[in-house]
Amino acid sequence: MSQSLDEALQAALQQRREQSLYRRRHIVDGPQGVCLQLDGKAVLNFCSNDYLGLAQHPDVVAALKRGADRYGVGAGASHLINGHGRAHHALEEELADFVGGPRALLFSSGYLANLGVITALLGKGDTLLQDRLNHASLIDAGRLSGARLQRYLHGDAQSLDTHLQKLVHNQHRTLIATDGVFSMDGDLAPLPALAGRARQHHAWLMVDDAHGLGVLGPQGRGTLDHFQLDDSQVPILMGTLGKAFGSFGAFVAGSETLIETLIQQARSYIYTTALPPAVAEASRASLNLVRAADDRREKLAALIQRLRRGAQQLGLKLMASPTAIQPLLVGDSQQAVTLSHRLLHEHQIMVSAIRPPTVPAGSARLRITLSAAHSEAQVDRLLAALEALQ
Ligand SMILES: Cc1ncc(COP(=O)(O)O)c(C=O)c1O
Repeated sequence: MSQSLDEALQAALQQRREQSLYRRRHIVDGPQGVCLQLDGKAVLNFCSNDYLGLAQHPDVVAALKRGADRYGVGAGASHLINGHGRAHHALEEELADFVGGPRALLFSSGYLANLGVITALLGKGDTLLQDRLNHASLIDAGRLSGARLQRYLHGDAQSLDTHLQKLVHNQHRTLIATDGVFSMDGDLAPLPALAGRARQHHAWLMVDDAHGLGVLGPQGRGTLDHFQLDDSQVPILMGTLGKAFGSFGAFVAGSETLIETLIQQARSYIYTTALPPAVAEASRASLNLVRAADDRREKLAALIQRLRRGAQQLGLKLMASPTAIQPLLVGDSQQAVTLSHRLLHEHQIMVSAIRPPTVPAGSARLRITLSAAHSEAQVDRLLAALEALQ
Protein backbone atom coordinates (compact mmCIF):
# COMPACT_ATOMS: atom_id res chain seq x y z
CA MET A 1 0.00 0.00 0.00
CA SER A 2 1.45 3.36 -1.00
CA GLN A 3 -0.13 5.61 1.66
CA SER A 4 0.65 5.41 5.35
CA LEU A 5 -2.28 5.18 7.78
CA ASP A 6 -1.97 8.86 8.73
CA GLU A 7 -1.71 10.03 5.11
CA ALA A 8 -4.89 8.19 4.20
CA LEU A 9 -6.77 9.48 7.23
CA GLN A 10 -5.54 13.06 6.77
CA ALA A 11 -6.99 13.16 3.27
CA ALA A 12 -10.41 12.10 4.59
CA LEU A 13 -10.24 14.60 7.46
CA GLN A 14 -9.32 17.38 5.05
CA GLN A 15 -12.32 16.53 2.90
CA ARG A 16 -14.57 16.78 5.96
CA ARG A 17 -13.13 20.21 6.78
CA GLU A 18 -13.77 21.42 3.24
CA GLN A 19 -17.39 20.26 3.41
CA SER A 20 -17.97 21.97 6.81
CA LEU A 21 -18.57 18.55 8.30
CA TYR A 22 -15.60 18.47 10.67
CA ARG A 23 -16.63 17.98 14.30
CA ARG A 24 -14.92 19.39 17.36
CA ARG A 25 -15.44 18.81 21.04
CA HIS A 26 -15.80 21.47 23.72
CA ILE A 27 -14.64 20.95 27.27
CA VAL A 28 -17.25 21.39 30.01
CA ASP A 29 -16.21 22.17 33.57
CA GLY A 30 -18.73 21.65 36.35
CA PRO A 31 -22.14 20.01 36.12
CA GLN A 32 -24.48 19.78 33.15
CA GLY A 33 -27.12 22.49 33.31
CA VAL A 34 -28.57 25.48 31.51
CA CYS A 35 -25.56 27.55 32.60
CA LEU A 36 -22.38 25.81 31.51
CA GLN A 37 -18.67 26.46 31.88
CA LEU A 38 -17.61 25.69 28.34
CA ASP A 39 -13.98 25.96 27.30
CA GLY A 40 -13.43 28.15 30.35
CA LYS A 41 -16.31 30.54 29.60
CA ALA A 42 -19.83 30.85 31.05
CA VAL A 43 -22.44 30.07 28.38
CA LEU A 44 -26.19 29.61 28.25
CA ASN A 45 -26.89 26.07 27.09
CA PHE A 46 -29.65 25.23 24.60
CA CYS A 47 -28.44 21.88 23.34
CA SER A 48 -28.45 19.23 26.03
CA ASN A 49 -31.07 16.50 26.43
CA ASP A 50 -31.45 17.09 30.17
CA TYR A 51 -35.05 18.15 29.49
CA LEU A 52 -36.20 18.19 33.11
CA GLY A 53 -33.00 19.60 34.59
CA LEU A 54 -32.31 16.47 36.67
CA ALA A 55 -28.66 15.83 35.74
CA GLN A 56 -27.44 17.81 38.74
CA HIS A 57 -30.49 17.39 40.99
CA PRO A 58 -29.37 16.97 44.63
CA ASP A 59 -31.48 13.79 45.11
CA VAL A 60 -29.87 12.16 42.07
CA VAL A 61 -26.36 13.21 43.12
CA ALA A 62 -26.97 11.98 46.70
CA ALA A 63 -28.26 8.62 45.41
CA LEU A 64 -25.13 8.20 43.30
CA LYS A 65 -22.92 8.90 46.32
CA ARG A 66 -24.89 6.55 48.57
CA GLY A 67 -24.73 3.90 45.84
CA ALA A 68 -20.95 4.26 45.58
CA ASP A 69 -20.57 4.00 49.37
CA ARG A 70 -22.63 0.83 49.36
CA TYR A 71 -21.51 -0.89 46.15
CA GLY A 72 -18.19 0.70 45.21
CA VAL A 73 -17.70 1.81 41.62
CA GLY A 74 -17.33 -0.93 39.01
CA ALA A 75 -19.94 -3.66 38.54
CA GLY A 76 -16.98 -6.00 38.05
CA ALA A 77 -18.54 -8.23 35.39
CA SER A 78 -21.38 -8.56 32.94
CA HIS A 79 -24.96 -9.15 34.13
CA LEU A 80 -24.79 -12.85 33.29
CA ILE A 81 -21.63 -13.48 35.29
CA ASN A 82 -21.93 -11.66 38.62
CA GLY A 83 -22.37 -8.02 37.71
CA HIS A 84 -26.16 -7.95 38.11
CA GLY A 85 -26.72 -6.29 41.46
CA ARG A 86 -29.63 -5.52 43.74
CA ALA A 87 -29.68 -1.91 42.49
CA HIS A 88 -29.93 -2.99 38.83
CA HIS A 89 -32.69 -5.44 39.64
CA ALA A 90 -34.72 -2.94 41.65
CA LEU A 91 -34.38 -0.36 38.86
CA GLU A 92 -35.62 -2.88 36.29
CA GLU A 93 -38.70 -3.63 38.41
CA GLU A 94 -39.41 0.05 38.94
CA LEU A 95 -39.00 0.86 35.23
CA ALA A 96 -41.37 -1.96 34.25
CA ASP A 97 -43.93 -0.59 36.70
CA PHE A 98 -43.37 2.95 35.35
CA VAL A 99 -44.03 2.08 31.71
CA GLY A 100 -46.72 -0.45 32.57
CA GLY A 101 -44.99 -3.45 31.00
CA PRO A 102 -44.48 -6.87 32.53
CA ARG A 103 -40.68 -6.62 32.59
CA ALA A 104 -37.74 -4.37 31.80
CA LEU A 105 -34.08 -5.11 31.07
CA LEU A 106 -31.25 -2.63 31.68
CA PHE A 107 -28.63 -1.95 29.03
CA SER A 108 -25.52 0.18 29.39
CA SER A 109 -26.70 2.68 26.77
CA GLY A 110 -29.50 3.28 24.29
CA TYR A 111 -27.16 2.55 21.42
CA LEU A 112 -26.39 -0.87 22.88
CA ALA A 113 -30.07 -1.53 23.66
CA ASN A 114 -31.09 -0.94 20.05
CA LEU A 115 -28.25 -3.11 18.76
CA GLY A 116 -29.17 -5.83 21.23
CA VAL A 117 -32.88 -5.96 20.50
CA ILE A 118 -32.71 -5.90 16.73
CA THR A 119 -29.83 -8.35 16.37
CA ALA A 120 -31.48 -10.73 18.85
CA LEU A 121 -34.84 -10.67 17.07
CA LEU A 122 -33.88 -10.51 13.39
CA GLY A 123 -31.53 -12.33 11.07
CA LYS A 124 -31.08 -13.19 7.43
CA GLY A 125 -34.40 -13.51 5.62
CA ASP A 126 -36.25 -11.23 8.07
CA THR A 127 -37.34 -7.68 7.26
CA LEU A 128 -36.79 -4.48 9.21
CA LEU A 129 -38.89 -1.47 8.26
CA GLN A 130 -37.68 1.84 9.59
CA ASP A 131 -38.70 5.48 9.43
CA ARG A 132 -36.23 7.34 7.20
CA LEU A 133 -35.27 9.64 10.06
CA ASN A 134 -34.70 7.01 12.73
CA HIS A 135 -31.76 7.40 15.06
CA ALA A 136 -28.39 6.07 13.86
CA SER A 137 -28.41 3.31 16.48
CA LEU A 138 -31.53 1.76 14.93
CA ILE A 139 -30.04 2.01 11.46
CA ASP A 140 -26.75 0.44 12.61
CA ALA A 141 -28.63 -2.30 14.45
CA GLY A 142 -30.50 -3.17 11.28
CA ARG A 143 -27.27 -3.41 9.28
CA LEU A 144 -25.66 -5.63 11.89
CA SER A 145 -28.67 -7.95 12.09
CA GLY A 146 -28.38 -9.09 8.47
CA ALA A 147 -32.12 -8.51 7.95
CA ARG A 148 -33.46 -6.91 4.79
CA LEU A 149 -33.72 -3.17 5.45
CA GLN A 150 -36.42 -0.90 4.09
CA ARG A 151 -37.02 2.71 5.01
CA TYR A 152 -40.45 4.28 4.73
CA LEU A 153 -41.17 8.01 4.36
CA HIS A 154 -40.83 9.98 7.55
CA GLY A 155 -43.88 9.73 9.80
CA ASP A 156 -45.91 8.26 6.96
CA ALA A 157 -48.09 5.23 7.83
CA GLN A 158 -49.28 5.03 4.23
CA SER A 159 -45.71 4.67 2.98
CA LEU A 160 -45.16 1.98 5.62
CA ASP A 161 -48.30 0.23 4.40
CA THR A 162 -47.02 0.25 0.82
CA HIS A 163 -43.83 -1.49 1.95
CA LEU A 164 -45.77 -3.98 4.07
CA GLN A 165 -48.06 -4.90 1.20
CA LYS A 166 -45.10 -5.77 -1.00
CA LEU A 167 -43.64 -8.22 1.51
CA VAL A 168 -43.98 -11.82 0.53
CA HIS A 169 -45.67 -13.57 3.42
CA ASN A 170 -43.62 -16.44 4.69
CA GLN A 171 -42.38 -17.67 8.04
CA HIS A 172 -39.87 -14.84 8.29
CA ARG A 173 -40.20 -12.02 10.81
CA THR A 174 -41.12 -8.40 10.12
CA LEU A 175 -40.21 -5.68 12.60
CA ILE A 176 -41.18 -2.01 12.33
CA ALA A 177 -38.90 0.32 14.30
CA THR A 178 -39.41 4.01 14.92
CA ASP A 179 -38.26 6.80 17.20
CA GLY A 180 -41.20 7.93 19.38
CA VAL A 181 -39.98 11.54 19.31
CA PHE A 182 -37.50 12.11 16.48
CA SER A 183 -34.17 13.10 17.94
CA MET A 184 -33.17 15.72 15.38
CA ASP A 185 -36.66 16.93 14.42
CA GLY A 186 -38.66 16.83 17.64
CA ASP A 187 -41.87 15.61 16.01
CA LEU A 188 -43.80 12.52 17.10
CA ALA A 189 -44.19 9.30 15.16
CA PRO A 190 -47.86 8.60 14.27
CA LEU A 191 -47.86 5.63 16.62
CA PRO A 192 -51.59 4.75 16.55
CA ALA A 193 -51.50 4.51 12.74
CA LEU A 194 -48.21 2.57 12.76
CA ALA A 195 -49.59 0.17 15.39
CA GLY A 196 -52.70 -0.37 13.24
CA ARG A 197 -50.59 -1.22 10.18
CA ALA A 198 -48.38 -3.53 12.26
CA ARG A 199 -51.41 -5.45 13.53
CA GLN A 200 -52.96 -5.69 10.08
CA HIS A 201 -49.78 -7.13 8.55
CA HIS A 202 -48.71 -9.31 11.50
CA ALA A 203 -45.56 -7.25 12.02
CA TRP A 204 -44.03 -6.31 15.39
CA LEU A 205 -43.64 -2.68 16.42
CA MET A 206 -40.65 -1.31 18.33
CA VAL A 207 -40.55 2.26 19.64
CA ASP A 208 -37.35 4.02 20.71
CA ASP A 209 -38.66 6.61 23.15
CA ALA A 210 -35.33 8.19 24.09
CA HIS A 211 -36.77 11.71 23.79
CA GLY A 212 -40.36 11.06 24.90
CA LEU A 213 -39.88 9.32 28.23
CA GLY A 214 -39.97 11.71 31.13
CA VAL A 215 -41.26 14.49 28.90
CA LEU A 216 -44.57 13.34 27.40
CA GLY A 217 -47.69 11.91 29.02
CA PRO A 218 -48.91 11.98 32.61
CA GLN A 219 -46.02 11.24 35.02
CA GLY A 220 -43.73 11.39 31.98
CA ARG A 221 -44.58 7.87 30.84
CA GLY A 222 -43.70 8.84 27.30
CA THR A 223 -45.02 8.77 23.76
CA LEU A 224 -47.00 5.52 24.17
CA ASP A 225 -48.91 6.95 27.09
CA HIS A 226 -49.39 10.22 25.19
CA PHE A 227 -51.23 8.21 22.52
CA GLN A 228 -52.82 5.85 25.08
CA LEU A 229 -51.12 2.81 23.61
CA ASP A 230 -49.85 -0.14 25.60
CA ASP A 231 -47.66 -3.18 25.17
CA SER A 232 -50.34 -5.06 23.26
CA GLN A 233 -49.93 -2.53 20.42
CA VAL A 234 -46.24 -1.75 20.96
CA PRO A 235 -44.64 -4.95 22.26
CA ILE A 236 -41.08 -3.53 22.29
CA LEU A 237 -40.23 -0.25 24.00
CA MET A 238 -36.71 1.13 24.37
CA GLY A 239 -36.07 4.00 26.76
CA THR A 240 -32.90 5.84 27.73
CA LEU A 241 -31.86 7.16 31.13
CA GLY A 242 -29.29 9.69 29.93
CA LYS A 243 -31.71 12.30 28.65
CA ALA A 244 -34.78 13.47 30.64
CA PHE A 245 -33.71 11.19 33.51
CA GLY A 246 -30.42 13.07 33.77
CA SER A 247 -28.56 9.83 34.51
CA PHE A 248 -27.07 7.15 32.24
CA GLY A 249 -28.08 3.83 30.71
CA ALA A 250 -31.14 2.47 28.93
CA PHE A 251 -33.76 -0.24 29.14
CA VAL A 252 -36.05 -2.35 27.05
CA ALA A 253 -39.56 -3.09 28.31
CA GLY A 254 -41.81 -5.87 27.10
CA SER A 255 -43.16 -9.32 27.85
CA GLU A 256 -41.52 -11.93 30.01
CA THR A 257 -40.72 -13.88 26.84
CA LEU A 258 -39.15 -10.90 25.08
CA ILE A 259 -36.94 -10.06 28.05
CA GLU A 260 -35.84 -13.67 28.56
CA THR A 261 -35.01 -13.85 24.84
CA LEU A 262 -32.87 -10.72 25.12
CA ILE A 263 -31.06 -12.10 28.18
CA GLN A 264 -30.21 -15.23 26.17
CA GLN A 265 -29.46 -13.62 22.82
CA ALA A 266 -28.74 -9.89 22.89
CA ARG A 267 -24.99 -9.79 22.39
CA SER A 268 -24.68 -6.13 23.46
CA TYR A 269 -26.27 -7.18 26.76
CA ILE A 270 -24.29 -10.35 27.28
CA TYR A 271 -20.80 -9.30 26.28
CA THR A 272 -20.36 -6.08 28.21
CA THR A 273 -19.78 -5.03 31.80
CA ALA A 274 -22.93 -4.06 33.71
CA LEU A 275 -23.52 -0.38 34.51
CA PRO A 276 -21.98 0.77 37.78
CA PRO A 277 -24.62 -0.05 40.43
CA ALA A 278 -24.35 3.47 41.86
CA VAL A 279 -25.55 4.78 38.49
CA ALA A 280 -28.57 2.47 38.78
CA GLU A 281 -29.23 4.00 42.22
CA ALA A 282 -29.02 7.48 40.68
CA SER A 283 -31.52 6.42 38.01
CA ARG A 284 -33.90 5.09 40.70
CA ALA A 285 -33.81 8.50 42.37
CA SER A 286 -34.39 10.26 39.07
CA LEU A 287 -37.29 7.92 38.23
CA ASN A 288 -38.99 9.06 41.45
CA LEU A 289 -38.43 12.68 40.45
CA VAL A 290 -39.64 12.10 36.88
CA ARG A 291 -42.90 10.57 38.10
CA ALA A 292 -43.58 13.57 40.33
CA ALA A 293 -42.41 16.21 37.85
CA ASP A 294 -45.71 17.33 36.29
CA ASP A 295 -44.82 20.88 37.36
CA ARG A 296 -41.53 20.68 35.44
CA ARG A 297 -43.32 19.27 32.38
CA GLU A 298 -45.86 22.12 32.55
CA LYS A 299 -43.06 24.66 32.75
CA LEU A 300 -41.29 23.03 29.82
CA ALA A 301 -44.50 23.16 27.76
CA ALA A 302 -44.88 26.88 28.56
CA LEU A 303 -41.27 27.56 27.53
CA ILE A 304 -41.81 25.69 24.26
CA GLN A 305 -44.83 27.89 23.51
CA ARG A 306 -42.88 31.02 24.42
CA LEU A 307 -40.01 30.11 22.09
CA ARG A 308 -42.33 29.20 19.23
CA ARG A 309 -44.40 32.37 19.59
CA GLY A 310 -41.29 34.52 19.74
CA ALA A 311 -39.70 32.79 16.75
CA GLN A 312 -42.86 33.23 14.71
CA GLN A 313 -42.88 36.96 15.47
CA LEU A 314 -39.28 37.12 14.22
CA GLY A 315 -40.13 35.17 11.08
CA LEU A 316 -37.78 32.32 12.07
CA LYS A 317 -38.42 28.88 10.62
CA LEU A 318 -38.65 26.55 13.61
CA MET A 319 -39.52 23.03 12.48
CA ALA A 320 -43.00 21.71 13.30
CA SER A 321 -42.30 20.19 16.70
CA PRO A 322 -44.40 20.13 19.87
CA THR A 323 -41.55 18.85 22.07
CA ALA A 324 -38.45 20.16 23.84
CA ILE A 325 -36.48 19.70 20.60
CA GLN A 326 -37.08 22.86 18.55
CA PRO A 327 -34.78 22.80 15.52
CA LEU A 328 -34.22 25.85 13.38
CA LEU A 329 -33.81 24.69 9.81
CA VAL A 330 -30.85 26.30 8.04
CA GLY A 331 -30.14 23.99 5.10
CA ASP A 332 -26.51 24.66 4.27
CA SER A 333 -23.94 23.08 6.61
CA GLN A 334 -21.48 25.98 6.48
CA GLN A 335 -24.23 28.46 7.30
CA ALA A 336 -25.42 26.33 10.23
CA VAL A 337 -21.88 26.14 11.60
CA THR A 338 -21.43 29.91 11.22
CA LEU A 339 -24.68 30.63 13.06
CA SER A 340 -23.77 28.27 15.88
CA HIS A 341 -20.30 29.82 16.10
CA ARG A 342 -21.68 33.36 16.20
CA LEU A 343 -24.26 32.46 18.86
CA LEU A 344 -21.45 31.09 20.98
CA HIS A 345 -18.85 33.79 20.46
CA GLU A 346 -21.02 36.89 20.10
CA HIS A 347 -23.84 35.95 22.50
CA GLN A 348 -22.38 33.24 24.78
CA ILE A 349 -25.21 30.88 23.80
CA MET A 350 -24.54 27.24 22.96
CA VAL A 351 -26.73 25.69 20.26
CA SER A 352 -25.14 22.95 18.22
CA ALA A 353 -25.21 22.80 14.44
CA ILE A 354 -26.43 19.40 13.27
CA ARG A 355 -25.16 18.41 9.84
CA PRO A 356 -25.17 15.41 7.54
CA PRO A 357 -24.85 12.50 7.97
CA THR A 358 -26.77 12.97 11.25
CA VAL A 359 -29.52 14.65 9.18
CA PRO A 360 -30.25 14.36 5.44
CA ALA A 361 -28.15 16.40 2.99
CA GLY A 362 -29.33 20.00 2.66
CA SER A 363 -31.16 19.99 6.01
CA ALA A 364 -28.46 21.22 8.41
CA ARG A 365 -30.03 22.90 11.39
CA LEU A 366 -29.53 24.47 14.77
CA ARG A 367 -30.90 21.91 17.20
CA ILE A 368 -32.33 24.07 19.96
CA THR A 369 -33.42 22.12 23.02
CA LEU A 370 -35.29 23.46 26.00
CA SER A 371 -35.18 22.32 29.60
CA ALA A 372 -37.60 22.88 32.46
CA ALA A 373 -34.58 24.44 34.17
CA HIS A 374 -34.52 27.35 31.69
CA SER A 375 -36.17 30.61 32.72
CA GLU A 376 -38.42 32.72 30.51
CA ALA A 377 -35.72 35.41 30.52
CA GLN A 378 -33.20 32.89 29.15
CA VAL A 379 -35.55 31.92 26.32
CA ASP A 380 -35.99 35.62 25.56
CA ARG A 381 -32.21 36.02 25.50
CA LEU A 382 -31.97 33.26 22.90
CA LEU A 383 -34.68 34.92 20.80
CA ALA A 384 -32.91 38.29 21.00
CA ALA A 385 -29.64 36.66 19.89
CA LEU A 386 -31.34 34.91 16.97
CA GLU A 387 -32.90 38.22 15.96
CA ALA A 388 -29.51 39.94 16.06
CA LEU A 389 -28.07 37.30 13.75
CA GLN A 390 -30.76 37.67 11.10
C1 LIG B 1 -33.54 8.28 19.46
C2 LIG B 1 -32.29 7.84 20.16
N1 LIG B 1 -32.11 6.54 20.38
C3 LIG B 1 -31.01 6.09 21.01
C4 LIG B 1 -30.04 6.95 21.46
C5 LIG B 1 -28.83 6.39 22.13
O1 LIG B 1 -28.96 6.47 23.51
P1 LIG B 1 -27.67 6.52 24.42
O2 LIG B 1 -27.17 7.92 24.38
O3 LIG B 1 -28.14 6.10 25.78
O4 LIG B 1 -26.69 5.55 23.83
C6 LIG B 1 -30.20 8.34 21.25
C7 LIG B 1 -29.23 9.34 21.68
O5 LIG B 1 -28.14 9.26 21.98
C8 LIG B 1 -31.35 8.79 20.58
O6 LIG B 1 -31.52 10.08 20.33
